[in-house]
Amino acid sequence: MRQSYRVERVAPDGSRAAVITLRCALPALVGQFVTLDVTVESITLRRSYSITSARPSEIDIIVKRVEGGRASNWLVEHTRPGDLLHGEAPAGFFVLPAIPTETHRLFIGGGSGLSPLIGLLEQHLEGPGSATLIACDRDERQAIGRARLDALLARSPHRLRWLRFIDDGPLDARSERGPLTATRLRDIVSAGRPLHSAFLCGPDGLQNMAAATIADEPLVEVRQERFVVDARESVPCVIEIAGHPAITARAGQSVIDALEKSGFATESSCRAGQCGSCRLRLRDGIVTHSTDEGLTPKQLAEGWILPCVAYARSERISLSVE
Ligand code: FES
Repeated sequence: MRQSYRVERVAPDGSRAAVITLRCALPALVGQFVTLDVTVESITLRRSYSITSARPSEIDIIVKRVEGGRASNWLVEHTRPGDLLHGEAPAGFFVLPAIPTETHRLFIGGGSGLSPLIGLLEQHLEGPGSATLIACDRDERQAIGRARLDALLARSPHRLRWLRFIDDGPLDARSERGPLTATRLRDIVSAGRPLHSAFLCGPDGLQNMAAATIADEPLVEVRQERFVVDARESVPCVIEIAGHPAITARAGQSVIDALEKSGFATESSCRAGQCGSCRLRLRDGIVTHSTDEGLTPKQLAEGWILPCVAYARSERISLSVE
């Protein structure tokens, strides 16, 4: 459902990100996402951002500058209070189930994947439960939500275990040199309280490693949110669409990114292979998906692909819009 969001406030979060507060008329939950249209140089990009805080009629998203991230960088640099943003209604299932009893939950996130986790952690610690948070970042400048996590730790020093893995730069008492490895994660889990559930968000590699490492733990559930896709082994490619000039895709570039860069407009919402709104029919050639959750088995059999998470595996692919 299409939705408009008035920007209420914009506040810096560390040196690379901004917390953007949006007026939201619809019910929204921490951990869901909103998809926003961002027009950069005449091309409208659609990007999903997790809701890190939700109040009656207001939501907060954290938008972080990323290298080559046209939409996110534009939002951080240009969004001002009073602006009207357009997009889709809040959606998604990466939310905290109500558990009335005391539980210990594991939260593992990296980069902007910490945005929903911080909100979920705050909610969880409003109850009697406890938590381990493992936050992974390239360096200190990339970290988001530090003030909120400091406040959370000050409020719940005996119920929150907060560990950080940093790839570069100085370490403090809480941080270790990253990346987080399966061995280290196993140590952390075995030294803590028995886990009830886990929430993972961030780069695919981190999520895949964490999910595999805790697979044998007797968890009630593991919830994952994926907004970062894996380019896998893709090749440079020419994309043909009837009625349009040929489009060139670089190795490692998603099909949707190549389409948008060439000015070809296509629908999209979640940009993570979940919603199916971007789907196109593959008429010829080979693509690989990092996930195909947004397609039914029948659609897969009919040759539909999800360009937002599709990468060329042949030098030429042919698509149709239906
Ligand atoms: S935009 Fe949602 S599946 Fe591609």
